[in-house]
Amino acid sequence: MESNNKFFNDFWPYFGGYFKNELDTSKEVDFVLSHLENKSMTILDLFCGYGRHSYQLAMRGYSILGIDKCNSYFLELQKINKMFPNFEFKIDDFLTLNIKSSYDCVLLLFGSFGYYGKSNDLNVLKMIFSVLNDGGIFIFDTRSFEQVKTSFVGINELIHGGIKITQSGSLNSITKEIKVKWVATIDNIKTDTYTTIITLYSLNEMKAMLSSVGFKELYLYDDYTKESLCLEPKKRCIWICKK
Ligand SMILES: C[S@@+](CC[C@H](N)C(=O)[O-])C[C@H]1O[C@@H](n2cnc3c(N)ncnc32)[C@H](O)[C@@H]1O
Repeated sequence: MESNNKFFNDFWPYFGGYFKNELDTSKEVDFVLSHLENKSMTILDLFCGYGRHSYQLAMRGYSILGIDKCNSYFLELQKINKMFPNFEFKIDDFLTLNIKSSYDCVLLLFGSFGYYGKSNDLNVLKMIFSVLNDGGIFIFDTRSFEQVKTSFVGINELIHGGIKITQSGSLNSITKEIKVKWVATIDNIKTDTYTTIITLYSLNEMKAMLSSVGFKELYLYDDYTKESLCLEPKKRCIWICKK
């Protein structure tokens, strides 16, 4: 969707870092590593953004490919690649990319799902399944329709380093689409306005989609502490799936 593309090209590269700091990222990486058996496992960091997970995983010796379609991340990702040759990256659209290698683990972290409408979202999962080795692990962090519905407030504000980011959104309970308008205000001057449209899935829908693609042994966590393996997560849905 065009509005999502504009958001990821022009907004997320500059402001995405305000939503997650290094400490959050290292907790997420510790969680990921607790599901991997050994250092020889290869990882695909799908929709890697500016590579915050890839950076920490590469530093710990894992071989990783990061994929993101957003050109604005090129310099950041190139910097990681120069420091750690075990990190490679592609700036490309995963939906049209022909990936020849397969991986022991695929990561799809921090709300990187629901951008393409129902049938293409399902295709994303199918493509992930096809690039995983047998027995490979898919770690998928998203939020369910139920979670967003109960916690969604019309307007959210985040102030960081003199920059105010305002999110205002609406949730259509029939289509399960959430439309969010994002505005960054710097020194009281409004920068551009961006819109994201994301399709949400209920817990049961998500479970059915993952199973229909072929994933098994589905575990569901509430957050990255790994303490709350649960059936009805309150905060996030972190799925651990096996091919
Ligand atoms: C919410 S960000 C998450 C980034 C990263 N995983 C993190 O946790 O910081 C979602 C990312 O998905 C990327 N993306 C969306 N659709 C994509 C596609 N079809 N191919 C490659 N990247 C895509 C966007 O460019 C954006 O950087």
